Amino acid sequence: MNSNEIRQRFLKFFEKREHSIIPSASLVPENDPSVLFNTAGMQPLVPYLLGEKHPSGEKIVGVQKCVRTTDIDEVGDNTHLTFFEMLGNWSLGDYFKEEAINWSYEFLTNKEEGLGLDPSRLYVTVFEGNNDAPRDEESFEIWKAIFEKAGFDPEKRIFFMSAKSNWWSPGENGPCGPDSEMFYDVTGELTNGMTKEEFIQADDEQKIVEIWNDVFMEYEKKDGKVIGKLVQRNVDTGAGLERLTVMMQGKDNVYETDLFESLMAKIKELSSVDNLKSRRIIADHIRSAVFLISDGVVPSNTDAGYILRRIIRRAARHLHLLNVEEGSLINLVNMVIEQYGDIYKNIKEKSEQIKEEIKKEEEKFKKTLGQGLKQFEKISGDISGKDAFVLFSTYGFPIEMTQEIAQEKKLAVDIVGFEEEMKKHQELSQTASAGKFKGGLGGDDENSTKLHTATHMLLAALREVFGPDVYQKGSNITPERLRFDFNYPEKMTPEQLKQVEDIVNQKIQESISVEMKEMAKEEALKVSKTSFDPSKYGDTVKVYSIGDFSIELCGGPHVENTSELGYFKIKKEEASSAGVRRIKAVLE
Ligand code: ALA
Repeated sequence: MNSNEIRQRFLKFFEKREHSIIPSASLVPENDPSVLFNTAGMQPLVPYLLGEKHPSGEKIVGVQKCVRTTDIDEVGDNTHLTFFEMLGNWSLGDYFKEEAINWSYEFLTNKEEGLGLDPSRLYVTVFEGNNDAPRDEESFEIWKAIFEKAGFDPEKRIFFMSAKSNWWSPGENGPCGPDSEMFYDVTGELTNGMTKEEFIQADDEQKIVEIWNDVFMEYEKKDGKVIGKLVQRNVDTGAGLERLTVMMQGKDNVYETDLFESLMAKIKELSSVDNLKSRRIIADHIRSAVFLISDGVVPSNTDAGYILRRIIRRAARHLHLLNVEEGSLINLVNMVIEQYGDIYKNIKEKSEQIKEEIKKEEEKFKKTLGQGLKQFEKISGDISGKDAFVLFSTYGFPIEMTQEIAQEKKLAVDIVGFEEEMKKHQELSQTASAGKFKGGLGGDDENSTKLHTATHMLLAALREVFGPDVYQKGSNITPERLRFDFNYPEKMTPEQLKQVEDIVNQKIQESISVEMKEMAKEEALKVSKTSFDPSKYGDTVKVYSIGDFSIELCGGPHVENTSELGYFKIKKEEASSAGVRRIKAVLE
């Protein structure tokens, strides 16, 4: 079954069950300045989940375009994409668990109208309950009846799980609720049922993958806490089209499905160097670029425009790595336009503009890419802040690209030094007020500034938990998230992660003022610790302190008071290299 058919079957299935089909909203949220892009199908529907009347009624279905940039560095592996489509059906105060679950099962397993999946390969989870909401016995009973009818032991198919996996909310504020997740056995060997322990292990080993999520949205969150029930009970479901397609086509990864197959083959044909990861990065990034431009984003140095610039330039660098013939990018862009033009009309309507923008950006960058790479070769040892700044300002290398190349060469980049250079330059050229360097570059837009302060607090909290020998090994800030590397030999436990989060949030709540003092470098090094080479700093340095919680040498900028930060949340903790852990965190 090809991806078009999956999309069509989904919409038809729910249309037949009295849902109105709604078009995808723009990738750029219309009334929500707090996020750059829509990252889930429900995001454009928040007002209606909260009680406003939707013009299409109470039962709706659609396919929403989504962009998630937090995992951009992971693109190239089997699973991560920046752009994807999310299928969803919604009840806005209409049906609830009984219909939602039964329809999900029917769509997944029905051969005529749905996907016709083998029910013996399905597993589900339901919410085990906590102080916010009771154990979801109702969903359990509904699934139990379904599995019994199909001839399976429900105890070996349905598992109660905690809020960590089975409570869904788009952030720290807004509609939320317990959910029931559906999993599919991709190996085809786990058809006899499992214990909960086996299920958890199979999930960990990716032998089963989550394919659909039914969220029963009847609660509301404020500042990270569930404050009570909404005026209506909603259903919000989400299934990633790309994931379903991988499964339906029995492939190992999304790049082998019909969604990417011809694009990947074309890139291979045009390359004279064989590098699968580069091919995947190019394919993913071109697709995202086409969709972003079709929704009105243009390359720039701020916010969404900066993300677009980054992905086009990254695609251009990887085309260069593969030795792809000049001018080929546009052929690849054409393929994406061709593929999606009939599904998303604005892609067809704006096809000329899409090509123009990508071509312009590529040409601008191509002029300096080769020289920039040569400049890179000339640098001996780690990349100083000054080097990174020259690569950015003279050769147009986004700082993330410098980091990526440095990583390939096993070199470090002095991000703090880079930020200092940016700041100096801004002051000199007085472009700060024009916002020229805002956003994405660790610059001084509001969110990045907040995340910068949060980074100091994170390090201080890690030292409270692990002791004073924890150092910063790397840091990277975009307007959406911070990324922080530090030395620690093993995976952090959920308890440790919570402890760190709690310390930072406690300090935010204490409304501590952030003080800056300029002092002689020697004196500064006595009061603060730094893992960077102090010779990279000038003789007079800035030291930022947050009470006696955190004292660090830094170029800034920072917020004036910790109370400005909101709610600190760790999204991910993973290995970065041997002995180095990486945390990604956001402020909500
Ligand atoms: N909004 C839910 C999700 O993204 C369905 O998983």
